[in-house]
Amino acid sequence: MRVGVLTGGGDCPGLNAVIRAVVRKGEREYGDELIGFTDGWKGVIENRTMPLDVERCRGILPRGGTILGSSRTNPFKVDGGVERSRASLEANNLDALIAVGGEDTLGVANKLAAEGVQVVGVPKTIDNDLSATELTFGFHTAVQICVDAIDRLHTTAESHDRVMVCEVMGRHAGWIATYAGIAGGAAEILIPEERFDINEIAERIKRRHDKGRYASIIVVAEGAQPQEGTMALVSKDVDQFGHVRLGGIGNMVAEQIEALTGFETRVTILGHIQRGGTPTAFDRVLATRFGIAAIEAVHDGEFGTMVALRGGEIVRVPLAEAVTELKTVDPELFRHVAVPFFG
Ligand code: F6P
Repeated sequence: MRVGVLTGGGDCPGLNAVIRAVVRKGEREYGDELIGFTDGWKGVIENRTMPLDVERCRGILPRGGTILGSSRTNPFKVDGGVERSRASLEANNLDALIAVGGEDTLGVANKLAAEGVQVVGVPKTIDNDLSATELTFGFHTAVQICVDAIDRLHTTAESHDRVMVCEVMGRHAGWIATYAGIAGGAAEILIPEERFDINEIAERIKRRHDKGRYASIIVVAEGAQPQEGTMALVSKDVDQFGHVRLGGIGNMVAEQIEALTGFETRVTILGHIQRGGTPTAFDRVLATRFGIAAIEAVHDGEFGTMVALRGGEIVRVPLAEAVTELKTVDPELFRHVAVPFFG
């Protein structure tokens, strides 16, 4: 078979491990010819490809990013984007396409599948907010990066008796903040799912320091929202999928905490450091399992599906199931495991 591969959306540690697994199994076991589209759906629209074979994939397993490049281009938002995408898939004589991405990239895959394109999805996002799979690769790596940073923030905070606000990624779902906050011993965790009251947080921080304890870490997801009318937020540009470019809530929280508590407060915004660099061993294995499962799904003719992790097993689920709603933080987990450590 001739199979195309693309990686779309924000990059994520483990993408190269997926590509490598698809290529290795496709070429060696099935005798497939593989090509990569560069820069996600943009490369499909513009028919930009690169050959993929076992030799090309040597050494990429531990490398972050994606050798194919990525973009947030949406063919449904580009003039003639869908027609041009179809034309380029035909021009390359493809029997199937493997799309590796998050809700946006897979949302496009789902729509194209409904129009008859033979596509299989692989779930990717550091945010871990895709439904239908228990985990996405990249999440474990992002959390580990955050926890390493928080551990470092603890010691400098202790030396100076400071409050440290650490802003992490998570636009609509606070999985990274929740896991990193729990593992990093945060005094407060602010996530998009639970609106926060800055006054209550300030009170808890004051009480915490009054007891002779010091060094408070506040982990804030970039999409965390204050309760109505308590703090103003600034909105910025939107991308082709309509997402506001975030960043800045950490500074606002820090400013308020310092004003309300009188404690010196500093901010660290981890930003794209969370997405860069080598994947953890866990993510390399998960990404490899997904890649193998995706090329198997192609050969079983199971198009319109996405590979997913459920109960430790790799299964196939309808693409539609993965993209209809975001998987947000389980409120029970948050209340039972995160909240008891607040203050
Ligand atoms: O979707 C993954 C993600 O890492 C989000 O958590 C974050 O809001 C976004 O990407 C930022 O992406 P970029 O700056 O690359 O557009």
